[in-house]
This record gives sequence, C-alpha cells and structure tokens, in this order.
Amino acid sequence: MKKLLALLFFCHVASPVKHSLLYFLTATSGVPDFPQFMGSALVDDFQVGYCDSNIKTAETKQDWRKFMKDNPEHLDYYINECYESQHFFKATIDSLMKRFNQSGGVHILQRMSGCEWDDETGEIRGFNQYGYDGEDFISLDLQMLTWITPKPQAFITKLRWDADKARLHRNQYYFIHLYPDWLKKYVQYARSFLQRTDLPSVSLLQKTPSSQVTCHATGFYLNRADLFWRKDGEELHEDVDKGEILPNHDGTFQMSVDLNISSIAPEDWKKYDCVFQMSGVKDNLITKLDKSVIRTNWGKSVRTVESGNETYLSVFCSRDEI
Ligand SMILES: *[C@@H]1O[C@H](CO)[C@@H](O)[C@H](O)[C@H]1NC(C)=O
Ligand SMILES: *[C@@H]1O[C@H](CO)[C@@H](O)[C@H](O)[C@H]1NC(C)=O
Ligand SMILES: *[C@@H]1O[C@H](CO)[C@@H](O)[C@H](O)[C@H]1NC(C)=O
Repeated sequence: MKKLLALLFFCHVASPVKHSLLYFLTATSGVPDFPQFMGSALVDDFQVGYCDSNIKTAETKQDWRKFMKDNPEHLDYYINECYESQHFFKATIDSLMKRFNQSGGVHILQRMSGCEWDDETGEIRGFNQYGYDGEDFISLDLQMLTWITPKPQAFITKLRWDADKARLHRNQYYFIHLYPDWLKKYVQYARSFLQRTDLPSVSLLQKTPSSQVTCHATGFYLNRADLFWRKDGEELHEDVDKGEILPNHDGTFQMSVDLNISSIAPEDWKKYDCVFQMSGVKDNLITKLDKSVIRTNWGKSVRTVESGNETYLSVFCSRDEI
C-alpha cells in the first residue's frame, strides 16, 4: 500500500515557468475498502478534479467549478473519461493478472499521462505511461510514435498497440496539441485564485498552565504553508506534535502545532517562537512564546478572557474543563 500511495501522491515542485497537466489513473485488485478505480487531474500540482468507482463520475474541486461551468465541454470530457477508463482499467488489470499467472493478491495498475509546458520557451512535452505493481510496464514515445517497454510480458501489448495507427495518432493529437491547449487555458484561469494569498491569524492556546502550548493558525490560503516551533531560531522536531492542514468552511485552511513545555525552564521561554510560513510569501509570521499572549480559560470565566475568542475557546476546551 505504501508504494501505491507514494506513487499516487507523487508530486514535483513546479517552477514558475514550467506548467503541468497530470492525469493519474489507478486500478487496484484485492485491496479491500479501497475504490477499484480512481482518477485525478492536477494542474501545477493542484487537484482540479477527481473520479472513482464509488462516486462513478468526475467531480470538480471548488476552485474549478466556475471554469467547468463556463466550459462544459471539459467537464463532459472528464465525466466520459471517468466512465470509459473505469471499464478499460478493470478489464486490463484482469487480463494482466492472467498474463502474470496471478490468481489473487494485491495488484495495482497505474497510468500517468499529461503534458508539460514551459511558458518561457514554449516547449511542450507530452507523456503517457503505464505501471503495473509499482514497475514501469509500457510507455508511449511521442517522438517516434511507438510504444516502448522494459517488460517481456508487455511485448504483446506493444505489438498490438503499435499496429493501431489511428490510436497512436489520436494519442499524439491529445498529448501534443489538445492537452497543452487545455493546460494554457487552465493556467490562465488558475492565476485568478493561485495568486491569492490570505495570511492567517495565529494564536497560542493552552488548556491548563502545565499542558502543551498549541500554536494555531487559521484563515490562510493557499494550503502550501507550514507551521512550526523554533528554539533559538532553529526548527524543533522534538517535543512537538504537528497537526495536518485542515479545511475551514469558507475555503481557507487551518493548522496547529503543539509544543510540550514540561521541560522548558521559565527563563528559557523567550528562546521559543512559532513560525507560520507560506510558499510565495517572503515574510514569515512569528509569534513569541510568551505567557501574556497565550489564550486560556483556565481558572477564568470565559467572558473575562481578554481578546479571547469565545466561540473558539468553547470548542477548544471540553465542557468539563471550563
Ligand atoms: C504463466 O504460466 C504459463 C503456463 O504454465 C507459462 O508458460 C508462463 O511462462 C507463465 N508466465 C509467467 C509470467 O510466469
Ligand atoms: C511532555 O514531556 C514530558 C517529559 O518529557 C512527558 O512526560 C509528557 O508525557 C509529555 N506530554 C505530552 C502531552 O506529550
Ligand atoms: C471567533 O472565531 C470564529 C470561528 O473561527 C469566527 O467566526 C469569529 O469571527 C471569531 N470572533 C472574533 C471576535 O475573533
């Protein structure tokens, strides 16, 4: 499973001039509680849409709904792709298992396809490759317009697919023309929201004077952000417990990181701070570990908490602690 997930969520850091449109399709066999088919579309590493054999159709991420509404032919294409690919992948994984003499066990068939576009040089690169059980199976050489494979078991596939000239030319059209055109449109549209940056409000919270101090950042956008504790300017990895980035209802994000203060002497508190860092934003938000800025309702009635957010505090502390 580890391998599958690593491949699925494989990510590369896109440079500002290199843009990518990636389609990941995955079929699994013998993995309980996991969709037999999943598909995902990413533009510059951001998910645009998603499809799987449970929901049975393509769904668009919130940021892309307007685009799909204004360009319904794109959504129609993805809904159709989702349907067709499901059947193709299911049939293909069944026939691969037979070809590898596998009667059971866990198997994974993946396809990564799409294109890259360098908006400075105009260079375009398309790709379409299949992997089976975590290893390269067959991939398309778009220059030579031929399928290449390192696996003897894929040779029969190569021969069949090479013979299908109409399909080869269709592939060439999609990967060299159509997808790059779409990518340019997507990048243009994405500028409207990818360049938005909302900084969060950061607070330090604590339930009791001896419990850990939570540094909480909420209201940030995009979710390419990090929150961590430092001591003397160095990021701390011990005595910290980092939470995941979670979505807020308004489309922004929140995250928190706890610092175990039990072994920190009072005079050392000033050496610590909590740092919020966002990709593409030069200045970090730094909050010093300081008793006077920690929000708590320990020993106080909620109403007297200065600058406290009552709504937040009542969620943060369970009822019997108030
Ligand atoms: C599968 O089994 C057949 C018949 O026993 C054999 O000829 C073939 O080499 C096997 N294939 C693999 C990939 O092991
Ligand atoms: C904090 O650290 C102390 C001492 O290292 C440990 O006993 C305690 O369990 C830790 N607390 C949490 C919440 O991890
Ligand atoms: C308190 O927090 C809630 C939920 O995050 C937010 O809606 C509200 O505006 C906050 N109020 C103040 C006074 O900061």
